This record gives sequence, structure tokens and C-alpha cells, in this order.
Amino acid sequence: MENSEKKVVMISGANRGIGSAIAEKLLSEHYLLSLGVRNPEHLPESLASVRETQLLCHKYDARDGDSAKSWVDATVKQFGSLDVLINNAGILHTTGLEDEEEDLLDDMWEVNAKAPLRLTRLVFPYLRKSGSGRIIDIISMSGKRVKGNWVGYSMSKYAALAASHTASLQGWEDGIRVTNICPGFVQSDMTITNAPSFPQEKMSRPEDVAKVVSTLLLLPNESAIPEVMMNCVFETI
Ligand SMILES: NC(=O)c1ccc[n+]([C@@H]2O[C@H](COP(=O)([O-])OP(=O)(O)OC[C@H]3O[C@@H](n4cnc5c(N)ncnc54)[C@H](OP(=O)(O)O)[C@@H]3O)[C@@H](O)[C@H]2O)c1
Repeated sequence: MENSEKKVVMISGANRGIGSAIAEKLLSEHYLLSLGVRNPEHLPESLASVRETQLLCHKYDARDGDSAKSWVDATVKQFGSLDVLINNAGILHTTGLEDEEEDLLDDMWEVNAKAPLRLTRLVFPYLRKSGSGRIIDIISMSGKRVKGNWVGYSMSKYAALAASHTASLQGWEDGIRVTNICPGFVQSDMTITNAPSFPQEKMSRPEDVAKVVSTLLLLPNESAIPEVMMNCVFETI
């Protein structure tokens, strides 16, 4: 397949965890990838080895609006078009209801809620042009229901879900299809750090999220899937 026939996929936070699993899966399926990461020098070897041919890696910090614009601009400059945005970068501070940690609330609002909306806004004109643009928002079950006391994380993910639904409505007529994926616990640094009492082997795997993403990208405009809830053994849906 010529490069000009391949779809161009942007993935934020693709250097580790769920983001790098998605990048590796899509790389094996011959997409052209544009990875937005805070430190472009520190990519896993599997991704770093194909730089320049199949993959652009650009500096992107979710707290910095200018870096979002320069990443989108660099992607279009390198590949000439843009078909898919995967909003994956995210953070978790475990601040609870009675904690006075407004700076942590602000931080999650910035990274988990505002940053994906900003990227969505920036890519929308290119996805319209594509005619079959796709946005996949990695939300969380914490953006669907509240089980514990991670109030700021949940608030930021509920907000991200609202932005995702808005994008779905606004892009529909132009063939843009938006899916939000809501995993429960997934094996990653995020859960190692913040949920150490839960065994990692009982959590969903990043590779499983990647398989879902891969399937979503194969579907035509006429078979839209707005939401995927995914869970591990800690919760029955
Ligand atoms: N793990 C779970 O159980 C779970 C469940 C549901 C949803 N999620 C969501 O899935 C997504 C990925 O999570 P994960 O489990 O893979 O977490 P992770 O292993 O902690 O990875 C987080 C990723 O986000 C990037 N990131 C964080 N802050 C950033 C910033 N300011 N600018 C750019 N990139 C930034 C990180 O980059 P650095 O390496 O530079 O920090 C890293 O690539 C997140 O949105 C998370 O909320 C995770």
C-alpha cells in the first residue's frame, strides 16, 4: 500500500501504557502515526525504530495549548492529511471530596478535560475534509459512574465525556464518528501508582484496549459505535 492511501492517526500520550499499546497495534496494521508525547527522545524501541518512515513523533504537552497546535500543524505538514485523533493522554490524582487540593483539581481539568477538547477543535477541519474522520476518546468508567472518592478524576472524565458527545453531534453530518472508550482498571503505571492494592494481573490489558481501537477504525460511517465500556473482574456491569 502506498503511503498516500494510508490513514493518518494522531495519538496523545503514546510513549507508555495504553497509548503505546495502541500505537504498536496500529503500526502493525500499516497506519501512518503521529505521536504526541512530552519527551520525543524517550519512545519505546518498537516505535522509535520506525521513526521518519511510518511515524512522526512530536512534542506535545497537554498543559500547553501552543504545543497542541504545533503538533497538529506538523502532522499535516508531514503527511498531508489527517484522519483519526486518539485522545489518550491523561493523569490521575487521587484527591478526594474533603481534600483541599484545588491545584490538583485544576491540573486534571487541564490535562483530562480541556486538552482533549483543544485537540478535537484543532483537528476538526481536517477530519471534515477526510469524510470519514474518527475521534476515539479514552475516557474511563470513572467518567460514567462514581464508585470511590477520586472526585477530581471523575469530574474531569465526566467533562471529557461531555466534550466527546458534543464532537459526535457536531461532526455527524461530515462523516466524523466519535467513540468514547470507558475502561475500568487497566494494567499501567497509573494503576500501579494509584491502586496498588489491586493485583495488576486481574486488570484489563492495554493490548485489549488497542484491539478495540483497531476494530473501531475498520468500521464505515454507517456502523458507528458511540461508546465502549470495558471491565475487569473487580466490577460487573
Ligand atoms: N489505567 C487505567 O486503569 C485506566 C482506566 C481508564 C481510563 N484510563 C485512561 O487511559 C489513558 C491512558 O492511561 P494509562 O493507564 O496508559 O496511564 P499512564 O501509563 O500513566 O500513561 C499516561 C500517558 O499520558 C501522558 N501524559 C500525562 N500527562 C501529560 C501531559 N501533560 N502532556 C502529554 N502527555 C501526558 C503520559 O506521558 P508521560 O510519560 O510524559 O507522563 C503517558 O504517556 C488516560 O487518559 C487514563 O485516564 C486509564
